[in-house]
Amino acid sequence: MHIAVIGTGYVGLVTGACFAEFGVDVTCVDVDEQKVENLRKGVIPIYEPGLDTIVEKNVAAHRLSFTIDIATAVKRAEVVFLAVGTPPKTDGSPDMSYYRQAAKDVAEAVDGYKVLVTKSTVPVGTGKWLVVRQPGNYGWPYCATPELPYVAYDFASGVSGAPFDCQHPVNHSSHNTGLAELPPVLEPELAYSFNSLPDWPELGSGGVGPMAGPAYVFSAERSSAVKWPEQYAGLPLFYEWTRDLVIAFHLSAGGAIESMEPLPFTLDNPMDMEFGPDGALYALEYGDGYYQINPDAQLTRIEYVSAP
Ligand SMILES: NC(=O)c1ccc[n+]([C@@H]2O[C@H](COP(=O)([O-])OP(=O)(O)OC[C@H]3O[C@@H](n4cnc5c(N)ncnc54)[C@H](O)[C@@H]3O)[C@@H](O)[C@H]2O)c1
Repeated sequence: MHIAVIGTGYVGLVTGACFAEFGVDVTCVDVDEQKVENLRKGVIPIYEPGLDTIVEKNVAAHRLSFTIDIATAVKRAEVVFLAVGTPPKTDGSPDMSYYRQAAKDVAEAVDGYKVLVTKSTVPVGTGKWLVVRQPGNYGWPYCATPELPYVAYDFASGVSGAPFDCQHPVNHSSHNTGLAELPPVLEPELAYSFNSLPDWPELGSGGVGPMAGPAYVFSAERSSAVKWPEQYAGLPLFYEWTRDLVIAFHLSAGGAIESMEPLPFTLDNPMDMEFGPDGALYALEYGDGYYQINPDAQLTRIEYVSAP
């Protein structure tokens, strides 16, 4: 396995050195020629206990190298880590220019399938869950929510433009055969990111992989020893692929989330779920790991076991 780490600062150097220590072939890339030159000579620009020894050992073993040549590093790698800086600007927003440049350089060098991993801290993820009862403008590709517009991006020049107007989005596409003036973007019932939400601590924090599950249809006539009880009737299940949790949402008549009831089990990266004819829940668990035979992957049945 060969990986490339783009940006050899605190994060990139430690990441690259530790992967090399695990036996992976690592090329660390940086635009700072002096830094690369020094690293080749064993001069470590930061202090982390033991890092100098790990770097020296893995450079000597030819598992770790340093370069300014991003194209060659990317072409050799199966996995590319982006670890360039995203420092705060004076207004507090992140300066994404290094990140964009690095992403562009990677995109130009890519010659086949690669996994791209973002280690840099980048703006908020945009997970959302919404109740759709009628046609509406739910945002994409102009806005994540009415408060979170995307910006127009010129792919030819690489220049970002103004944020879209979520109240009056306009579809200028030459391929558009429908409305040009679009209705306002609707508010989702739930919008969340990587951090925990004060109103909904049940969601926890972590990755952003929202999944909309079924609402249970209870039947008193169904004769099944494993069927879920009536208390779950009509509650839509929400599950989080990255957080391994399943939550029943209690909704108001208008569809707003009134409360969240975490269910007393976890699933390993839940991918899909349906209630079966027996009233038990059937879930597909993806498990951890990608693009490989995954021993964690399984079909799971969650039966209800009533108290004796
Ligand atoms: N330092 C931490 O503890 C920490 C922890 C978690 C996440 N992060 C995030 O990781 C990212 C990197 O942080 P850091 O502290 O390592 O930053 P850093 O400033 O120490 O290192 C960034 C490196 O990227 C290089 N670089 C810039 N543009 C480049 C390009 N186009 N191609 C190749 N290299 C380029 C710079 O020369 C620099 O050496 C940031 O987004 C940061 O928020 C940092």
